Amino acid sequence: MSDGTRGETQGSVAAPRTAGDMLRMAREFLQRKGIEEARLEAELLVAHALGFDRLRLFLALDRPVTAEEIDRARDLLVRRGRREPTAYIVGRREFYKREFQVGKGVLVPRPETEHLVDRARELSGERGTGAASAWDDPAAPWIADLGTGSGCIALTCALELPAACVTAVDVSGAAVLCARANLAALDAAGALAGRVELLEGDGFDVLARRVRERGRKLDLLLSNPPYVAREEAATLAPEVKDYEPELALSAPAGDPDHGARRLLDAARELVVPGGAVLVELGLGQAPRVAELARARGFTPAFVRDLAKIERVLEVRV
Ligand SMILES: C[S@@+](CC[C@H](N)C(=O)[O-])C[C@H]1O[C@@H](n2cnc3c(N)ncnc32)[C@H](O)[C@@H]1O
Repeated sequence: MSDGTRGETQGSVAAPRTAGDMLRMAREFLQRKGIEEARLEAELLVAHALGFDRLRLFLALDRPVTAEEIDRARDLLVRRGRREPTAYIVGRREFYKREFQVGKGVLVPRPETEHLVDRARELSGERGTGAASAWDDPAAPWIADLGTGSGCIALTCALELPAACVTAVDVSGAAVLCARANLAALDAAGALAGRVELLEGDGFDVLARRVRERGRKLDLLLSNPPYVAREEAATLAPEVKDYEPELALSAPAGDPDHGARRLLDAARELVVPGGAVLVELGLGQAPRVAELARARGFTPAFVRDLAKIERVLEVRV
């Protein structure tokens, strides 16, 4: 590592001697590359290069770094300088205070999606959060996550709601593999065994089949469907448009409301009367999906995110 990275910038600055030097040089490199949260990202990448978490990095700022560690840090920084998301470079992202593995082909979990989980927890609280249960317990609330990606929504709900059984489905094989890896990693204590199923296929077909097979309907249907409109796709940050999966981002036919409309159309077939559907929305979608909901006889409600944007559509079935 030098001022920049070999090949990317031929700096003449000496190589870092300590972890603290490395951190400072990494931050300066990322700032020059126009990365917004250069300080935080430098911490994550340098900690990863040294095999530490961020806290240990701060406790080891005086520690000398080896040539191998410098090479490793340089490779990570070059990738970030080319706008690869940090979550893909380090292979994980925090969601609801837990680490989720992510990789190419799987959407990086976003903080705004935590609002959907918050609301799912509140609604499930109404249906009891008692003792751990399993598939054969008819009283266990049944939750589904359509388009599970990394499994961040489904697995968080399963971990936060020990009485619930959770079906997670994704049409992408890469996503299902990733969600399975997260299930294994997050279930060290076996608390999810027998309560979570991860299925591959079209979410609407799979859930309709599971409802028929189980002879009961869902209590809660959750989804963060792709909602990027065709005209919006070109305006996305390079981290998103050049690296994250098209299938997870772009709404079918370029229509941002496609997912919400299909979920509303399927709601009565899939969800028990009194149950609910929660759908994550993009900026500006709320008035249109409110109309779609009313046209189908539902009363729409919205959960706002920290920026006061109507982020989650809620309808009661
Ligand atoms: C916006 S991502 C959400 C991923 C994850 N739930 C999250 O919040 O981070 C949408 C996901 O839906 C999946 N998907 C798209 N169409 C689908 C369909 N018809 N059935 C099941 N999954 C679908 C994509 O593969 C992608 O993983």
